[in-house]
Amino acid sequence: MAGLCLADALHRLGSAAAPFVYASFVGSLDGRIAVSDPVSGASRLPVEITSESDFRLFLELEAQADCLVTHGGYLRDLAAGRLDDVLQIGTRTMDRDLADWRRENGLSPQPAVVIASASLDFPIPDSLIREKRRVLVATGRQAPPDRVDALRARGVPVLVAGEGDAVEGAPLVRELGRLGFRSVYLLTGPRMLSTMLRDGALSRLYLTITHRVVGGESFHTMATGPRLEGAGRLRLCTLHYDAAAPDGAGQWFARFEPLRPA
Ligand SMILES: NC(=O)c1ccc[n+]([C@@H]2O[C@H](COP(=O)([O-])OP(=O)(O)OC[C@H]3O[C@@H](n4cnc5c(N)ncnc54)[C@H](OP(=O)(O)O)[C@@H]3O)[C@@H](O)[C@H]2O)c1
Repeated sequence: MAGLCLADALHRLGSAAAPFVYASFVGSLDGRIAVSDPVSGASRLPVEITSESDFRLFLELEAQADCLVTHGGYLRDLAAGRLDDVLQIGTRTMDRDLADWRRENGLSPQPAVVIASASLDFPIPDSLIREKRRVLVATGRQAPPDRVDALRARGVPVLVAGEGDAVEGAPLVRELGRLGFRSVYLLTGPRMLSTMLRDGALSRLYLTITHRVVGGESFHTMATGPRLEGAGRLRLCTLHYDAAAPDGAGQWFARFEPLRPA
């Protein structure tokens, strides 16, 4: 599957007026993107639905981004050692070539990182500070003002992209475009996907479906909040099938684009 997503040249599809915004999810046949551990209660992507192929494609999507949008919850999990750091590109054997690819395609060595958060209660990882990565925070107008001030005092730009405490899709994309970002990869979860779809701000969804029924009492699906109605209509653009991964069960790799209202 290597090269499948790089061929999309996502870094060339957007403009400052209309950045290309894409998201990806890996799910099971029964729609799980995460299940809760019965002991710790922590919810995680079930390891049995992941494969080397989908991780490689995830890294290819990252490689094409001007900026990665992550969120406060991920940075808290990262600091607590509950999740791996996926904000760096080109640091593993399987993605060394992607560092060269970025250079050859005129992209900065690493994408900027935008942290979406309503609480503004998260640590900024040392690795980002050490590497002098461009880091920005996005939040809503009602976010705690003392935390906004503290971030700005540290030199971290805070984008206001929403009238409540949460980030909304359309204002976020507008702000990112204003800053010159053309390809924006959402490494976020159900809440951000829902707001992007609701606001008509998502350009493309990459969805890997692993041919396995996961079950579990408590789980997440790709979307949350009020029903999306027409904003949830998507058109299948391409579909690839890998019969072998993982464990011989098979995976579909699909690209979808939102159907705009007629
Ligand atoms: N299988 C997959 O492909 C996949 C993909 C993504 C996530 N997941 C998993 O799914 C589960 C749920 O995902 P999640 O943790 O990302 O849940 P989520 O409910 O979508 O997001 C949780 C956190 O993100 C911040 N956030 C999200 N949307 C925001 C918005 N519009 N405005 C401001 N802040 C926003 C908030 O941070 P603050 O609390 O700092 O305000 C919030 O606590 C997790 O277990 C995750 O690992 C799986």
